[in-house]
Amino acid sequence: MQEIIKQLEEKRAAARKGGGGERIEVQHSKGKLTARERLELLLDRGSFEEWDMFVEHRSTEFGMADQTVPGDGVVTGFGTINGRLVFVFSQDFTVFGGSLSEAHAEKICKVMDQAMKVGAPMIGLNDSGGARIQEGVASLGGYAEVFQRNVLASGVIPQISLIMGPCAGGAVYSPAMTDFIFMVRDSSYMFVTGPEVVKTVTHETVTAEELGGAATHSTKSGVADLAFENDVKALLSVRRFFDYLPASNRESPPVWPTDDPADRVEPSLDTLVPDDPNQPYDMKELIVKAADEYEFLEIQPDYARNIVIGFVRMEGSTVGVVANQPMVLAGCLDIGSSVKAGRFVRFCDAFNIPILTFVDVPGFMPGTSQEFGGIIKHGAKLLYAFAEATVPKVTVITRKAYGGAYDVMSSKHLRGDANLAWPSAEIAVMGPKGAVEIIFRKDLDDEEKIARHTEDYRRMFANPFIAGRRGYIDDVIMPHDTRPRICRSLRMLRDKDLENPWRKHGNLPL
Ligand code: HXC
Repeated sequence: MQEIIKQLEEKRAAARKGGGGERIEVQHSKGKLTARERLELLLDRGSFEEWDMFVEHRSTEFGMADQTVPGDGVVTGFGTINGRLVFVFSQDFTVFGGSLSEAHAEKICKVMDQAMKVGAPMIGLNDSGGARIQEGVASLGGYAEVFQRNVLASGVIPQISLIMGPCAGGAVYSPAMTDFIFMVRDSSYMFVTGPEVVKTVTHETVTAEELGGAATHSTKSGVADLAFENDVKALLSVRRFFDYLPASNRESPPVWPTDDPADRVEPSLDTLVPDDPNQPYDMKELIVKAADEYEFLEIQPDYARNIVIGFVRMEGSTVGVVANQPMVLAGCLDIGSSVKAGRFVRFCDAFNIPILTFVDVPGFMPGTSQEFGGIIKHGAKLLYAFAEATVPKVTVITRKAYGGAYDVMSSKHLRGDANLAWPSAEIAVMGPKGAVEIIFRKDLDDEEKIARHTEDYRRMFANPFIAGRRGYIDDVIMPHDTRPRICRSLRMLRDKDLENPWRKHGNLPL
Protein backbone atom coordinates (compact mmCIF):
# COMPACT_ATOMS: atom_id res chain seq x y z
CA MET A 1 0.00 0.00 0.00
CA GLN A 2 2.73 2.47 1.04
CA GLU A 3 4.58 1.59 -2.15
CA ILE A 4 1.52 2.24 -4.29
CA ILE A 5 0.93 5.60 -2.61
CA LYS A 6 4.56 6.52 -3.22
CA GLN A 7 4.24 5.55 -6.88
CA LEU A 8 1.03 7.51 -7.13
CA GLU A 9 2.73 10.63 -5.78
CA GLU A 10 5.63 10.16 -8.16
CA LYS A 11 3.33 9.80 -11.14
CA ARG A 12 1.32 12.84 -10.12
CA ALA A 13 4.50 14.87 -9.72
CA ALA A 14 5.74 13.71 -13.12
CA ALA A 15 2.43 14.61 -14.75
CA ARG A 16 2.45 18.06 -13.14
CA LYS A 17 6.01 18.65 -14.34
CA GLY A 18 4.89 18.01 -17.93
CA GLY A 19 7.85 18.35 -20.28
CA GLY A 20 10.10 19.64 -17.47
CA GLY A 21 11.40 22.92 -16.10
CA GLU A 22 13.40 23.90 -19.16
CA ARG A 23 10.50 23.52 -21.56
CA ILE A 24 8.20 25.34 -19.13
CA GLU A 25 10.69 28.21 -19.14
CA VAL A 26 10.63 28.31 -22.93
CA GLN A 27 6.82 28.35 -22.81
CA HIS A 28 6.89 31.28 -20.37
CA SER A 29 9.52 33.10 -22.43
CA LYS A 30 7.05 33.12 -25.33
CA GLY A 31 4.52 34.88 -23.09
CA LYS A 32 2.49 31.66 -22.82
CA LEU A 33 1.20 29.97 -19.68
CA THR A 34 1.39 26.21 -19.19
CA ALA A 35 -1.62 23.95 -19.67
CA ARG A 36 -2.25 23.74 -15.93
CA GLU A 37 -1.70 27.43 -15.24
CA ARG A 38 -4.31 28.15 -17.87
CA LEU A 39 -6.86 25.85 -16.26
CA GLU A 40 -6.25 27.50 -12.90
CA LEU A 41 -7.23 30.84 -14.40
CA LEU A 42 -10.15 29.51 -16.39
CA LEU A 43 -11.87 27.54 -13.66
CA ASP A 44 -13.14 28.49 -10.22
CA ARG A 45 -10.40 28.08 -7.63
CA GLY A 46 -10.14 24.49 -6.41
CA SER A 47 -12.93 23.24 -8.69
CA PHE A 48 -10.81 21.27 -11.18
CA GLU A 49 -11.16 17.48 -11.10
CA GLU A 50 -8.51 15.96 -13.31
CA TRP A 51 -9.07 12.75 -15.20
CA ASP A 52 -6.62 10.42 -16.91
CA MET A 53 -3.49 11.84 -15.37
CA PHE A 54 -1.88 8.42 -15.72
CA VAL A 55 -2.62 7.83 -19.39
CA GLU A 56 0.50 7.28 -21.47
CA HIS A 57 1.04 6.83 -25.17
CA ARG A 58 1.53 3.32 -26.53
CA SER A 59 3.97 3.92 -29.38
CA THR A 60 7.31 2.22 -29.51
CA GLU A 61 8.84 3.42 -32.76
CA PHE A 62 11.51 6.12 -32.94
CA GLY A 63 12.59 5.45 -29.36
CA MET A 64 9.21 6.46 -28.00
CA ALA A 65 9.01 3.47 -25.62
CA ASP A 66 11.51 5.25 -23.36
CA GLN A 67 9.82 8.61 -23.59
CA THR A 68 6.58 8.70 -21.71
CA VAL A 69 5.08 11.49 -19.66
CA PRO A 70 1.99 10.72 -17.54
CA GLY A 71 -0.95 12.54 -19.09
CA ASP A 72 0.59 12.42 -22.57
CA GLY A 73 0.46 16.13 -23.39
CA VAL A 74 -3.09 17.02 -22.52
CA VAL A 75 -4.76 17.84 -19.21
CA THR A 76 -8.45 16.89 -19.11
CA GLY A 77 -11.31 16.92 -16.65
CA PHE A 78 -14.11 19.08 -15.35
CA GLY A 79 -14.63 22.04 -13.07
CA THR A 80 -16.84 25.08 -12.67
CA ILE A 81 -16.95 28.66 -13.95
CA ASN A 82 -18.83 30.90 -11.54
CA GLY A 83 -20.33 27.74 -10.09
CA ARG A 84 -21.50 26.23 -13.39
CA LEU A 85 -20.17 22.89 -14.64
CA VAL A 86 -17.82 22.77 -17.63
CA PHE A 87 -15.61 20.10 -19.21
CA VAL A 88 -12.14 21.05 -20.37
CA PHE A 89 -9.02 19.91 -22.13
CA SER A 90 -5.79 21.84 -22.16
CA GLN A 91 -2.96 20.79 -24.44
CA ASP A 92 0.49 20.85 -22.91
CA PHE A 93 3.00 22.16 -25.42
CA THR A 94 5.88 21.15 -23.15
CA VAL A 95 5.10 17.46 -23.78
CA PHE A 96 5.94 16.48 -27.37
CA GLY A 97 4.82 19.96 -28.46
CA GLY A 98 1.26 19.23 -27.31
CA SER A 99 1.05 16.90 -30.31
CA LEU A 100 -1.93 14.61 -30.54
CA SER A 101 -1.30 10.89 -30.08
CA GLU A 102 -3.93 8.18 -30.08
CA ALA A 103 -3.98 8.21 -26.25
CA HIS A 104 -4.09 12.02 -26.14
CA ALA A 105 -7.13 11.93 -28.47
CA GLU A 106 -8.82 9.28 -26.33
CA LYS A 107 -8.53 11.57 -23.30
CA ILE A 108 -10.19 14.42 -25.17
CA CYS A 109 -12.93 12.12 -26.47
CA LYS A 110 -13.64 10.82 -22.99
CA VAL A 111 -14.40 14.26 -21.57
CA MET A 112 -16.40 15.19 -24.67
CA ASP A 113 -18.54 12.06 -24.27
CA GLN A 114 -19.08 12.84 -20.61
CA ALA A 115 -19.99 16.47 -21.34
CA MET A 116 -22.62 15.20 -23.77
CA LYS A 117 -24.00 12.70 -21.27
CA VAL A 118 -24.50 15.27 -18.52
CA GLY A 119 -25.28 18.23 -20.78
CA ALA A 120 -22.46 20.66 -19.97
CA PRO A 121 -20.32 22.88 -22.22
CA MET A 122 -16.89 21.88 -23.47
CA ILE A 123 -13.93 24.27 -23.59
CA GLY A 124 -10.75 23.25 -25.41
CA LEU A 125 -7.44 25.06 -24.89
CA ASN A 126 -5.42 24.31 -28.02
CA ASP A 127 -1.62 24.54 -28.08
CA SER A 128 -0.26 21.77 -30.26
CA GLY A 129 2.18 20.88 -32.99
CA GLY A 130 -0.57 18.76 -34.59
CA ALA A 131 -0.55 15.04 -35.23
CA ARG A 132 2.12 13.16 -33.19
CA ILE A 133 4.53 12.49 -36.02
CA GLN A 134 5.95 9.33 -34.41
CA GLU A 135 2.49 7.74 -34.36
CA GLY A 136 1.46 8.34 -37.93
CA VAL A 137 -1.99 7.20 -38.90
CA ALA A 138 -3.06 6.34 -35.33
CA SER A 139 -2.88 10.02 -34.58
CA LEU A 140 -4.94 10.89 -37.67
CA GLY A 141 -7.56 8.44 -36.46
CA GLY A 142 -7.50 10.20 -33.10
CA TYR A 143 -8.22 13.53 -34.77
CA ALA A 144 -11.14 12.07 -36.68
CA GLU A 145 -12.59 10.66 -33.45
CA VAL A 146 -12.51 14.19 -32.02
CA PHE A 147 -14.03 15.68 -35.20
CA GLN A 148 -16.89 13.20 -35.08
CA ARG A 149 -17.67 14.17 -31.51
CA ASN A 150 -17.49 17.88 -32.37
CA VAL A 151 -20.19 17.29 -34.96
CA LEU A 152 -22.43 15.20 -32.72
CA ALA A 153 -22.10 17.76 -29.92
CA SER A 154 -22.91 20.66 -32.25
CA GLY A 155 -26.21 22.22 -31.17
CA VAL A 156 -26.34 19.93 -28.12
CA ILE A 157 -23.73 21.50 -25.83
CA PRO A 158 -21.88 24.79 -26.40
CA GLN A 159 -18.30 24.19 -27.57
CA ILE A 160 -15.63 26.85 -27.22
CA SER A 161 -12.07 26.74 -28.57
CA LEU A 162 -9.20 28.86 -27.38
CA ILE A 163 -6.23 28.88 -29.70
CA MET A 164 -3.19 29.55 -27.51
CA GLY A 165 -0.32 28.34 -29.66
CA PRO A 166 0.16 26.58 -32.99
CA CYS A 167 -2.84 24.98 -34.64
CA ALA A 168 -2.12 23.76 -38.14
CA GLY A 169 -3.03 21.22 -40.78
CA GLY A 170 -6.19 19.21 -40.30
CA ALA A 171 -6.02 20.07 -36.60
CA VAL A 172 -7.72 23.39 -37.32
CA TYR A 173 -10.91 21.55 -38.17
CA SER A 174 -11.80 20.58 -34.63
CA PRO A 175 -11.91 24.22 -33.47
CA ALA A 176 -13.61 25.13 -36.77
CA MET A 177 -16.54 22.90 -35.86
CA THR A 178 -16.95 24.36 -32.39
CA ASP A 179 -19.27 27.31 -31.76
CA PHE A 180 -16.70 29.98 -30.93
CA ILE A 181 -12.99 30.41 -31.56
CA PHE A 182 -10.93 32.81 -29.47
CA MET A 183 -7.29 33.52 -30.25
CA VAL A 184 -4.35 35.07 -28.44
CA ARG A 185 -2.48 37.80 -30.31
CA ASP A 186 1.14 37.15 -31.35
CA SER A 187 1.34 33.67 -29.80
CA SER A 188 -1.29 31.67 -31.66
CA TYR A 189 -1.95 30.83 -35.27
CA MET A 190 -4.23 28.67 -37.36
CA PHE A 191 -3.74 27.57 -40.95
CA VAL A 192 -4.35 24.56 -43.13
CA THR A 193 -0.89 24.75 -44.68
CA GLY A 194 1.98 26.74 -43.20
CA PRO A 195 4.18 29.45 -44.73
CA GLU A 196 6.75 26.98 -46.17
CA VAL A 197 4.14 25.01 -48.09
CA VAL A 198 2.52 28.23 -49.25
CA LYS A 199 5.86 29.41 -50.57
CA THR A 200 6.46 26.17 -52.47
CA VAL A 201 3.00 25.96 -53.98
CA THR A 202 1.93 29.54 -54.65
CA HIS A 203 5.30 31.31 -54.37
CA GLU A 204 3.86 33.74 -51.82
CA THR A 205 6.08 34.87 -48.97
CA VAL A 206 4.13 35.25 -45.79
CA THR A 207 4.84 34.91 -42.07
CA ALA A 208 2.89 32.56 -39.79
CA GLU A 209 1.39 35.61 -38.07
CA GLU A 210 0.27 37.16 -41.38
CA LEU A 211 -1.09 33.88 -42.68
CA GLY A 212 -2.99 32.74 -39.63
CA GLY A 213 -2.48 34.99 -36.61
CA ALA A 214 -5.22 36.42 -34.44
CA ALA A 215 -5.30 39.70 -36.39
CA THR A 216 -5.81 37.87 -39.69
CA HIS A 217 -8.58 35.64 -38.41
CA SER A 218 -10.42 38.31 -36.47
CA THR A 219 -10.42 40.88 -39.30
CA LYS A 220 -9.90 39.18 -42.67
CA SER A 221 -11.14 35.59 -42.59
CA GLY A 222 -13.75 35.76 -39.84
CA VAL A 223 -12.51 32.39 -38.52
CA ALA A 224 -11.88 33.81 -35.02
CA ASP A 225 -14.65 35.37 -32.96
CA LEU A 226 -12.45 37.36 -30.61
CA ALA A 227 -8.74 38.12 -30.22
CA PHE A 228 -7.01 38.88 -26.92
CA GLU A 229 -3.70 40.46 -25.91
CA ASN A 230 -2.44 37.54 -23.85
CA ASP A 231 -3.37 34.25 -22.17
CA VAL A 232 -4.63 35.88 -18.97
CA LYS A 233 -7.00 38.26 -20.76
CA ALA A 234 -8.24 35.47 -23.03
CA LEU A 235 -9.02 33.11 -20.15
CA LEU A 236 -10.70 35.74 -17.97
CA SER A 237 -12.79 36.87 -20.95
CA VAL A 238 -13.92 33.32 -21.62
CA ARG A 239 -15.20 33.15 -18.04
CA ARG A 240 -17.29 36.27 -18.70
CA PHE A 241 -18.47 34.88 -22.04
CA PHE A 242 -19.40 31.55 -20.48
CA ASP A 243 -21.83 33.31 -18.12
CA TYR A 244 -24.09 34.06 -21.10
CA LEU A 245 -24.42 30.47 -22.27
CA PRO A 246 -26.88 27.75 -21.29
CA ALA A 247 -25.37 24.43 -20.27
CA SER A 248 -27.00 22.59 -23.17
CA ASN A 249 -29.85 22.68 -25.68
CA ARG A 250 -32.12 21.26 -23.00
CA GLU A 251 -31.72 24.27 -20.73
CA SER A 252 -32.57 27.96 -20.77
CA PRO A 253 -29.74 30.46 -20.57
CA PRO A 254 -28.75 31.42 -17.02
CA VAL A 255 -30.46 34.37 -15.36
CA TRP A 256 -28.19 36.73 -13.42
CA PRO A 257 -29.72 39.18 -10.97
CA THR A 258 -29.82 42.80 -12.11
CA ASP A 259 -30.82 46.11 -10.54
CA ASP A 260 -31.44 47.70 -13.92
CA PRO A 261 -35.20 48.41 -14.18
CA ALA A 262 -37.02 46.93 -17.16
CA ASP A 263 -38.94 50.19 -17.54
CA ARG A 264 -35.85 52.41 -17.80
CA VAL A 265 -36.43 55.00 -20.55
CA GLU A 266 -33.61 56.56 -22.55
CA PRO A 267 -34.57 60.05 -23.77
CA SER A 268 -31.27 60.38 -25.65
CA LEU A 269 -32.46 57.71 -28.12
CA ASP A 270 -35.09 60.12 -29.46
CA THR A 271 -32.32 62.01 -31.27
CA LEU A 272 -30.17 59.03 -32.27
CA VAL A 273 -31.41 58.85 -35.86
CA PRO A 274 -30.31 61.98 -37.78
CA ASP A 275 -32.82 63.93 -39.89
CA ASP A 276 -30.74 63.35 -43.01
CA PRO A 277 -31.48 59.75 -44.09
CA ASN A 278 -27.99 59.45 -45.55
CA GLN A 279 -26.22 60.37 -42.36
CA PRO A 280 -24.95 57.43 -40.34
CA TYR A 281 -25.20 56.90 -36.59
CA ASP A 282 -23.78 54.28 -34.31
CA MET A 283 -26.19 51.38 -33.82
CA LYS A 284 -24.11 50.18 -30.88
CA GLU A 285 -25.38 53.18 -28.91
CA LEU A 286 -28.89 51.76 -29.16
CA ILE A 287 -27.77 48.22 -28.28
CA VAL A 288 -25.93 49.40 -25.19
CA LYS A 289 -28.74 51.67 -24.02
CA ALA A 290 -31.34 48.93 -24.40
CA ALA A 291 -29.28 46.32 -22.54
CA ASP A 292 -29.17 45.50 -18.83
CA GLU A 293 -26.52 47.64 -17.20
CA TYR A 294 -25.40 48.99 -20.59
CA GLU A 295 -23.41 45.82 -21.13
CA PHE A 296 -22.85 44.32 -24.58
CA LEU A 297 -20.49 41.46 -25.30
CA GLU A 298 -19.75 41.92 -28.98
CA ILE A 299 -18.55 38.99 -31.09
CA GLN A 300 -16.45 39.44 -34.24
CA PRO A 301 -16.24 43.22 -33.67
CA ASP A 302 -13.58 43.69 -36.35
CA TYR A 303 -14.98 41.45 -39.09
CA ALA A 304 -17.86 42.42 -41.43
CA ARG A 305 -18.47 45.48 -39.30
CA ASN A 306 -21.59 46.38 -41.30
CA ILE A 307 -23.42 43.95 -39.04
CA VAL A 308 -23.08 43.80 -35.27
CA ILE A 309 -23.63 40.59 -33.28
CA GLY A 310 -23.22 39.68 -29.64
CA PHE A 311 -24.90 39.03 -26.31
CA VAL A 312 -26.77 41.30 -23.92
CA ARG A 313 -29.03 40.52 -20.99
CA MET A 314 -32.60 41.72 -20.67
CA GLU A 315 -34.03 41.41 -17.16
CA GLY A 316 -31.06 39.17 -16.39
CA SER A 317 -31.57 36.68 -19.25
CA THR A 318 -29.26 36.21 -22.22
CA VAL A 319 -30.42 37.64 -25.53
CA GLY A 320 -28.55 37.46 -28.86
CA VAL A 321 -28.41 40.76 -30.75
CA VAL A 322 -28.14 41.13 -34.52
CA ALA A 323 -28.01 44.72 -35.78
CA ASN A 324 -27.22 46.49 -39.02
CA GLN A 325 -24.51 49.11 -38.54
CA PRO A 326 -25.20 52.27 -40.59
CA MET A 327 -21.64 53.48 -39.84
CA VAL A 328 -20.13 50.82 -42.11
CA LEU A 329 -21.18 50.40 -45.77
CA ALA A 330 -24.44 52.13 -44.73
CA GLY A 331 -25.39 48.87 -43.02
CA CYS A 332 -25.79 46.96 -46.33
CA LEU A 333 -25.91 43.19 -46.18
CA ASP A 334 -23.02 41.54 -48.02
CA ILE A 335 -21.40 38.10 -48.07
CA GLY A 336 -19.34 38.53 -44.89
CA SER A 337 -22.13 40.05 -42.81
CA SER A 338 -24.69 37.47 -43.93
CA VAL A 339 -22.48 34.54 -42.99
CA LYS A 340 -21.41 36.18 -39.72
CA ALA A 341 -24.96 36.90 -38.58
CA GLY A 342 -26.45 33.70 -40.02
CA ARG A 343 -24.16 31.51 -37.97
CA PHE A 344 -24.86 33.55 -34.84
CA VAL A 345 -28.64 33.31 -35.30
CA ARG A 346 -28.33 29.53 -35.64
CA PHE A 347 -26.26 29.33 -32.46
CA CYS A 348 -28.89 31.32 -30.55
CA ASP A 349 -31.71 29.21 -31.96
CA ALA A 350 -29.95 25.94 -31.11
CA PHE A 351 -29.44 27.03 -27.51
CA ASN A 352 -32.79 28.65 -26.66
CA ILE A 353 -31.44 32.20 -26.71
CA PRO A 354 -34.00 34.82 -27.85
CA ILE A 355 -32.95 36.98 -30.79
CA LEU A 356 -33.22 40.76 -30.76
CA THR A 357 -32.80 42.35 -34.19
CA PHE A 358 -32.22 46.07 -34.82
CA VAL A 359 -32.82 47.00 -38.43
CA ASP A 360 -31.44 49.85 -40.51
CA VAL A 361 -30.64 48.27 -43.83
CA PRO A 362 -30.69 49.86 -47.28
CA GLY A 363 -30.49 46.47 -49.01
CA PHE A 364 -27.98 43.95 -50.27
CA MET A 365 -24.61 45.22 -51.47
CA PRO A 366 -24.50 45.54 -55.28
CA GLY A 367 -21.43 44.72 -57.41
CA THR A 368 -19.59 42.08 -59.36
CA SER A 369 -17.43 41.03 -56.44
CA GLN A 370 -20.55 40.26 -54.42
CA GLU A 371 -22.36 38.49 -57.24
CA PHE A 372 -19.29 36.49 -58.34
CA GLY A 373 -18.62 35.66 -54.71
CA GLY A 374 -22.09 34.16 -54.37
CA ILE A 375 -24.09 36.75 -52.43
CA ILE A 376 -27.21 34.87 -53.53
CA LYS A 377 -26.15 31.75 -51.69
CA HIS A 378 -24.53 33.51 -48.74
CA GLY A 379 -27.32 36.03 -48.25
CA ALA A 380 -29.69 33.07 -48.25
CA LYS A 381 -27.88 31.73 -45.19
CA LEU A 382 -29.04 34.64 -43.07
CA LEU A 383 -32.54 34.44 -44.52
CA TYR A 384 -32.63 30.71 -43.84
CA ALA A 385 -31.35 31.14 -40.29
CA PHE A 386 -33.92 33.75 -39.33
CA ALA A 387 -36.75 31.82 -40.99
CA GLU A 388 -35.77 28.55 -39.33
CA ALA A 389 -35.37 30.02 -35.83
CA THR A 390 -38.14 29.14 -33.37
CA VAL A 391 -36.81 31.02 -30.35
CA PRO A 392 -38.50 34.31 -29.34
CA LYS A 393 -37.75 36.94 -31.98
CA VAL A 394 -38.12 40.66 -31.30
CA THR A 395 -37.35 43.13 -34.08
CA VAL A 396 -37.01 46.90 -33.91
CA ILE A 397 -36.78 48.88 -37.18
CA THR A 398 -35.03 52.18 -36.49
CA ARG A 399 -34.78 53.57 -40.01
CA LYS A 400 -34.37 51.86 -43.36
CA ALA A 401 -35.85 48.46 -44.04
CA TYR A 402 -35.66 48.23 -47.79
CA GLY A 403 -36.25 45.46 -50.26
CA GLY A 404 -35.24 41.85 -49.70
CA ALA A 405 -33.15 42.92 -46.74
CA TYR A 406 -36.37 44.02 -44.99
CA ASP A 407 -37.72 40.49 -45.38
CA VAL A 408 -34.46 38.91 -44.22
CA MET A 409 -33.97 40.88 -41.02
CA SER A 410 -36.36 38.89 -38.82
CA SER A 411 -39.47 40.35 -40.43
CA LYS A 412 -43.01 39.44 -39.41
CA HIS A 413 -43.20 37.15 -42.43
CA LEU A 414 -40.31 35.06 -41.06
CA ARG A 415 -42.27 34.48 -37.87
CA GLY A 416 -40.99 37.55 -36.02
CA ASP A 417 -42.95 37.59 -32.76
CA ALA A 418 -42.85 41.27 -31.87
CA ASN A 419 -41.98 43.61 -34.72
CA LEU A 420 -41.74 47.21 -33.62
CA ALA A 421 -40.78 50.35 -35.53
CA TRP A 422 -39.56 53.78 -34.56
CA PRO A 423 -41.37 56.77 -36.12
CA SER A 424 -38.25 57.26 -38.29
CA ALA A 425 -38.72 53.82 -39.90
CA GLU A 426 -38.89 53.64 -43.69
CA ILE A 427 -40.23 50.28 -44.77
CA ALA A 428 -40.32 50.10 -48.56
CA VAL A 429 -39.12 48.27 -51.63
CA MET A 430 -36.26 50.73 -51.99
CA GLY A 431 -35.19 54.26 -51.03
CA PRO A 432 -37.03 57.27 -52.55
CA LYS A 433 -34.18 58.25 -54.89
CA GLY A 434 -33.77 54.80 -56.43
CA ALA A 435 -37.51 54.28 -56.72
CA VAL A 436 -38.11 57.58 -58.52
CA GLU A 437 -35.22 57.01 -60.92
CA ILE A 438 -36.91 53.79 -62.03
CA ILE A 439 -40.57 54.76 -62.03
CA PHE A 440 -40.02 58.22 -63.55
CA ARG A 441 -37.14 57.47 -65.88
CA LYS A 442 -38.64 59.69 -68.55
CA ASP A 443 -38.39 62.71 -66.22
CA LEU A 444 -34.75 62.16 -65.34
CA ASP A 445 -33.62 65.34 -67.16
CA ASP A 446 -36.08 67.48 -65.27
CA GLU A 447 -34.59 68.13 -61.87
CA GLU A 448 -37.65 69.89 -60.54
CA LYS A 449 -39.99 67.06 -61.45
CA ILE A 450 -37.66 64.46 -59.99
CA ALA A 451 -37.43 66.42 -56.74
CA ARG A 452 -41.23 66.56 -56.59
CA HIS A 453 -41.63 62.85 -57.33
CA THR A 454 -38.99 62.05 -54.69
CA GLU A 455 -40.77 64.14 -52.10
CA ASP A 456 -44.10 62.48 -53.00
CA TYR A 457 -42.54 59.02 -52.68
CA ARG A 458 -40.90 59.92 -49.40
CA ARG A 459 -44.21 61.16 -47.99
CA MET A 460 -46.09 58.10 -49.17
CA PHE A 461 -43.62 55.30 -48.44
CA ALA A 462 -40.79 56.53 -46.20
CA ASN A 463 -42.68 55.87 -42.98
CA PRO A 464 -43.80 52.96 -40.82
CA PHE A 465 -47.52 53.27 -41.60
CA ILE A 466 -47.83 51.34 -44.87
CA ALA A 467 -46.34 48.29 -43.13
CA GLY A 468 -48.35 49.09 -40.00
CA ARG A 469 -51.60 49.11 -41.95
CA ARG A 470 -50.98 45.52 -42.97
CA GLY A 471 -49.90 44.38 -39.54
CA TYR A 472 -46.32 43.78 -40.73
CA ILE A 473 -45.25 45.72 -37.69
CA ASP A 474 -47.08 45.38 -34.41
CA ASP A 475 -46.60 48.91 -33.14
CA VAL A 476 -44.76 52.18 -33.66
CA ILE A 477 -42.85 52.99 -30.50
CA MET A 478 -40.97 56.02 -29.25
CA PRO A 479 -37.20 55.44 -29.27
CA HIS A 480 -36.87 56.32 -25.59
CA ASP A 481 -39.28 53.49 -24.80
CA THR A 482 -37.28 50.81 -26.61
CA ARG A 483 -35.92 48.95 -23.58
CA PRO A 484 -39.25 48.71 -21.74
CA ARG A 485 -41.01 47.53 -24.91
CA ILE A 486 -38.38 44.88 -25.64
CA CYS A 487 -38.47 43.64 -22.04
CA ARG A 488 -42.24 43.35 -22.09
CA SER A 489 -42.22 41.48 -25.39
CA LEU A 490 -39.56 39.06 -24.18
CA ARG A 491 -41.50 38.47 -21.00
CA MET A 492 -44.63 37.75 -23.06
CA LEU A 493 -42.57 35.27 -25.11
CA ARG A 494 -41.05 33.41 -22.19
CA ASP A 495 -43.16 30.31 -22.77
CA LYS A 496 -43.21 30.49 -26.56
CA ASP A 497 -43.68 27.05 -28.06
CA LEU A 498 -43.04 26.61 -31.77
CA GLU A 499 -41.71 23.62 -33.67
CA ASN A 500 -40.59 23.20 -37.25
CA PRO A 501 -41.92 20.20 -39.22
CA TRP A 502 -40.05 16.92 -38.64
CA ARG A 503 -37.15 16.29 -41.01
CA LYS A 504 -33.77 14.63 -40.90
CA HIS A 505 -32.20 18.05 -41.39
CA GLY A 506 -32.81 21.06 -43.58
CA ASN A 507 -30.55 21.89 -46.50
CA LEU A 508 -28.96 25.20 -45.50
CA PRO A 509 -27.43 26.87 -48.59
CA LEU A 510 -23.81 26.10 -47.64
C1 HXC B 1 5.79 15.16 -32.27
C2 HXC B 1 6.37 17.33 -31.97
C3 HXC B 1 5.43 17.74 -32.93
C4 HXC B 1 4.68 16.74 -33.57
C5 HXC B 1 6.41 19.48 -32.18
N1 HXC B 1 6.97 18.44 -31.53
N2 HXC B 1 5.48 19.08 -33.05
N3 HXC B 1 6.54 16.05 -31.64
N4 HXC B 1 4.89 15.47 -33.21
N5 HXC B 1 3.77 17.06 -34.47
C6 HXC B 1 7.99 18.48 -30.49
C7 HXC B 1 9.33 18.90 -31.03
O1 HXC B 1 10.02 17.80 -31.51
C8 HXC B 1 9.97 19.48 -29.78
O2 HXC B 1 10.43 18.44 -28.97
C9 HXC B 1 8.82 20.10 -29.06
O3 HXC B 1 7.66 19.49 -29.59
C10 HXC B 1 8.72 21.59 -29.29
O4 HXC B 1 8.81 21.84 -30.68
P1 HXC B 1 9.75 22.98 -31.27
O5 HXC B 1 9.84 22.72 -32.73
O6 HXC B 1 11.02 23.05 -30.51
O7 HXC B 1 8.91 24.26 -30.95
P2 HXC B 1 8.70 25.58 -31.81
O8 HXC B 1 10.03 26.05 -32.32
O9 HXC B 1 7.91 26.48 -30.97
O10 HXC B 1 7.87 25.13 -33.09
C11 HXC B 1 6.54 24.63 -32.93
C12 HXC B 1 6.07 24.01 -34.24
C13 HXC B 1 7.04 22.97 -34.74
C14 HXC B 1 5.90 25.12 -35.28
C15 HXC B 1 4.68 23.42 -33.97
O11 HXC B 1 7.37 22.09 -33.66
C16 HXC B 1 6.53 22.16 -35.87
O12 HXC B 1 6.53 22.65 -37.02
N6 HXC B 1 6.11 20.94 -35.58
C17 HXC B 1 5.63 20.03 -36.56
C18 HXC B 1 4.28 20.44 -37.04
C19 HXC B 1 3.68 19.41 -37.96
O13 HXC B 1 4.14 19.25 -39.09
N7 HXC B 1 2.70 18.65 -37.44
C20 HXC B 1 2.06 17.61 -38.13
C21 HXC B 1 1.07 18.33 -39.03
S1 HXC B 1 -0.01 17.26 -39.81
P3 HXC B 1 11.69 18.58 -28.00
O14 HXC B 1 11.87 17.22 -27.44
O15 HXC B 1 12.82 19.04 -28.86
O16 HXC B 1 11.30 19.60 -26.98
C22 HXC B 1 -1.30 17.33 -38.84
C23 HXC B 1 -2.40 16.63 -39.45
C24 HXC B 1 -3.60 16.62 -38.58
O17 HXC B 1 -1.36 17.85 -37.80
C25 HXC B 1 -4.61 16.03 -39.44
C26 HXC B 1 -5.91 15.87 -38.78
C27 HXC B 1 -6.86 15.33 -39.73
